[in-house]
Amino acid sequence: MKHAQPRLNQLGAYPFERLHQLFDGVIADATLTPIDAGAGEPRLPLPAFVQPMLEKHLSGFSKYPPTRGIADLRESIAAWLMRRYALPAVDAATQVLSANGTREALFAVAHALVNPQMASDKPYVLMPNPMYQIYLGAALTAGAQPYLMPCMPETGFSPDIDAITDAIWQRTAFVYICSPSNPTGWIADAAYYENLLALADAHDFYIVSDECYSEIYWQQKPTGLLEACQQTGRTDFSRCLVMNSLSKRSALPGLRSGFIAGDARLISRFAKLRSYTGSATPLPLQQVAAAAWRDEVHVQANLAVYRQSLAAFFDAYGEGEIPSGSFFVWLPVNDGEAFAKAAYAQQAVTILPGSYLSVDDEHGINPGQRFIRAALVDGPEKAAELAQRLRKVNI
Ligand SMILES: Cc1ncc(COP(=O)(O)O)c(C=O)c1O
Repeated sequence: MKHAQPRLNQLGAYPFERLHQLFDGVIADATLTPIDAGAGEPRLPLPAFVQPMLEKHLSGFSKYPPTRGIADLRESIAAWLMRRYALPAVDAATQVLSANGTREALFAVAHALVNPQMASDKPYVLMPNPMYQIYLGAALTAGAQPYLMPCMPETGFSPDIDAITDAIWQRTAFVYICSPSNPTGWIADAAYYENLLALADAHDFYIVSDECYSEIYWQQKPTGLLEACQQTGRTDFSRCLVMNSLSKRSALPGLRSGFIAGDARLISRFAKLRSYTGSATPLPLQQVAAAAWRDEVHVQANLAVYRQSLAAFFDAYGEGEIPSGSFFVWLPVNDGEAFAKAAYAQQAVTILPGSYLSVDDEHGINPGQRFIRAALVDGPEKAAELAQRLRKVNI
């Protein structure tokens, strides 16, 4: 392996691979119907427009799709952003890019924004801990040093940017923010973004905001980074990139369609990288995506189901607070890994140990170790049943 990229050696096994290993040799109670609350994969009906749109544009499969996205899709996204966040203008041509789902874009962005030679020490990429694991893999493979912001219950799971020293900020290439957060459900408010934007100006770094759960919330519609830009007079969205997707909003994870929007200079740089990596969504799927961003009826219907599921879960579980956003339950159980294993064996339930979504900090503390994550993606009845079964788990 003398020519292989050594940075890859720093990546651990992906959470679902670890889960597979954890359950190896464990026999789930065969008298129970299994409940899979492991992956955050929405399981709701296909929106009605998907099939006719796909059929209409089927011939697009015989053409190469443009990586930036067709104009109709970018315009549909720009219009959605303007409606959703009360933005007076988003330029579809220079401020929006199509993505093949946000996962690949969240990964690739580090390779566009990190300069590994920036300083004598590796640059930092800041991220919440626990986090969507892609941030970690992206930072490491781009030659950066991940810097973890612990998200603890005592501080409402907010990544504490006030605790970061100037010396750290000076070495920071960019910050990943995830709001609503997977897995904690935390939502950034306008003041949080404002604070972060001021720090980005003072210390010359970028902000990458993962907003793929923006349409799944309990009460308060989440603020977005571009909205915070607008409210603080940053009309060019400088230093900011926002990512969003149809996977959660429209329950279309298999469509592989999302977007990147924000600072035109960063978009142009990122577009250049993407013209080489070539992550283009097939043309007929881009057409479906354009229709999806124009429709809110199916989004409201989905949101109603998620809210019913959250209410049903906590009703049946009998304690804990409904998260502000996302469809995840982040429950303290003492030992997340032991609990997940027992839940599988005793209750035929698949959930994720919190430690698989977080890493040890410099004090050896893993902020996810005490937790499990359950995804409420199967409707209210299953959510209630899941809660009842989790209540019975013995470790
Ligand atoms: C926080 C977060 N970001 C991004 C993604 C990626 O989703 P997609 O690539 O389907 O847009 C997920 C998927 O689970 C997620 O939980």
